[in-house]
Amino acid sequence: MNSAPASSKLRVVLLTSEMFPFSKSGGLGDVMGALPVALQNQGADVSVITPFYGRLRTAGHEIRLVKSDCPVGYPWAPVTAEIYKTTYHGVNVYFVARGEYFDRRAYYNTYEGDYFDNCERFTFFVRAALSWCRQFDAAPHIIHAHDWQSGLAPAFLHFLRRSDPFWQQTHSVMTIHNLAFQGRFSFRLFENCGLPGEAWHMDGVEFYGDFNMLKGGIAYADAVTTVSPAYAREIISPAFGCGLEGILQVRRPELHGILNGADYGVWDPNNDRYLTCAYTPETLDGKRVCKRALLREFYMADQLEDRPVLCFIGRLRRQKGIDLLYEILPELMKYEVGVIVLGEGSLEYEARLQELVEQYPGRLGGAIGYSEDLAHRIHAGSDIFLMPSRYEPCGLTQMYALRFGTPPVATAVGGLIDTIVPHPSPRATGFTFARPEAEQFLEAVHQALELWQRPAKWQAMMKRAMAQAFTWDLAARKYLDLYASLLAPTATSLGAASRQTDAEHSNPLPGPVRERAEVAYAADQKVPEKQTRMQSGL
Ligand code: ADP
Ligand code: GLC
Repeated sequence: MNSAPASSKLRVVLLTSEMFPFSKSGGLGDVMGALPVALQNQGADVSVITPFYGRLRTAGHEIRLVKSDCPVGYPWAPVTAEIYKTTYHGVNVYFVARGEYFDRRAYYNTYEGDYFDNCERFTFFVRAALSWCRQFDAAPHIIHAHDWQSGLAPAFLHFLRRSDPFWQQTHSVMTIHNLAFQGRFSFRLFENCGLPGEAWHMDGVEFYGDFNMLKGGIAYADAVTTVSPAYAREIISPAFGCGLEGILQVRRPELHGILNGADYGVWDPNNDRYLTCAYTPETLDGKRVCKRALLREFYMADQLEDRPVLCFIGRLRRQKGIDLLYEILPELMKYEVGVIVLGEGSLEYEARLQELVEQYPGRLGGAIGYSEDLAHRIHAGSDIFLMPSRYEPCGLTQMYALRFGTPPVATAVGGLIDTIVPHPSPRATGFTFARPEAEQFLEAVHQALELWQRPAKWQAMMKRAMAQAFTWDLAARKYLDLYASLLAPTATSLGAASRQTDAEHSNPLPGPVRERAEVAYAADQKVPEKQTRMQSGL
């Protein structure tokens, strides 16, 4: 056995394709760097399983190999994964390694599009992760999957629970961080993934004739969560459901919105190694020092020190409404303001940014690429944070902006509704506008610029913003309550399993399908030779 004797605590295993500081392409990485630690701090025994991306080899983390040949149980060959381990703030972090899948420049895609084998990569990841858990002294109480890359875990677990006593007491949670990314592939790839044929139906992994990994997670998890209450309400409608509103409506009784937290250990202007000067609500002069340094860093006009500087940090994608910012930019530039943009995304949006920077030298600063430290400096050195998202499951950058005293101007969608108190409320911490349209966005920016000209009122808003606390402790408590509700005696009636009829339970599955269900993890479970042979017939 690979671990210390099973603890009597609640055993939670989180599956994720990103975890800060080991990997991050966006908010998922941040969440997974903080939530496991918060759960552990509240008494759970937490492990995270995540891919071992090639760049980790040179990133200076202390990571050691703990298993060189973890079987993954594919039928056609004895494929294995290497398992590496480290601990992060007391949390066990296991990495699933297999060079051909994860030693790549990027996580999921290049400018040309998604990696062609993403389905295979993340099916492999989930299978290896469950296979590794199978070797623990005791099964986890909770398997908590995040986004489509881990979406098959609840589906596999659903079928494993039927055939393997080890998993009988394990429940699953599927968290949706972004419904637009679903892991949608052809039926042919479903045939190879190892799920039984019965998973192929409209309340399972099938989606308009395709194989949908996120849908699998939603369909088979015992509970489904998303990262803000407002987004949980939005995604059951066609406007935000990305085609999955139907299955989400079916799962509505088990669908919860739990607001993300912000990791103030990482995002705090009073304690930030990337800033020129620390500051607090009481020492806001420090923010001016950061602003001056930021303007120099971007070769921007000195006069802007006394004018509002607006910023955008995020993926240059339609979701984030970067096109809306480009649209209002010529109008914005008529005022004496500075704008700074940090992001990477589609080639088209990156190229446009470059053109605009050339068009407005000294007034528009642009950085194309991904830079963790620059993101901190921009939050600190700007006055107003722009976030015209078309949809936003939660959004972390606006939470960071609030903490850095940089009031946001944002669309009233998803998590932005749940985190920003809009002007003109006496408790306002920012500005929102109803629809992601250039005109409304511009009008909200106007309101912000107007208030900025009234220093006492503006400073009061900055201070209210900085006082907001979206703590991970609170979010972790909500997840722990949810886990507890699944483990309560009535919990067996939750989830897809409960939607089976009595007839389904009592009738054995037809031969071949049943075999497939039972042998999916055959190699890991040291099943008899006979079953292994049956696998090769898949
Ligand atoms: P999403 O996950 O949809 O991209 P979030 O607001 O939840 O949006 O989280 C984005 C995270 O990624 C934040 O930590 C933000 O600072 C970071 N980020 C996004 N783009 C960049 C970039 N170009 N450089 C550095 N950090 C970035
Ligand atoms: C996604 C969402 C973002 C959310 C993040 C972390 O990437 O787009 O809104 O904050 O996940 O949950």
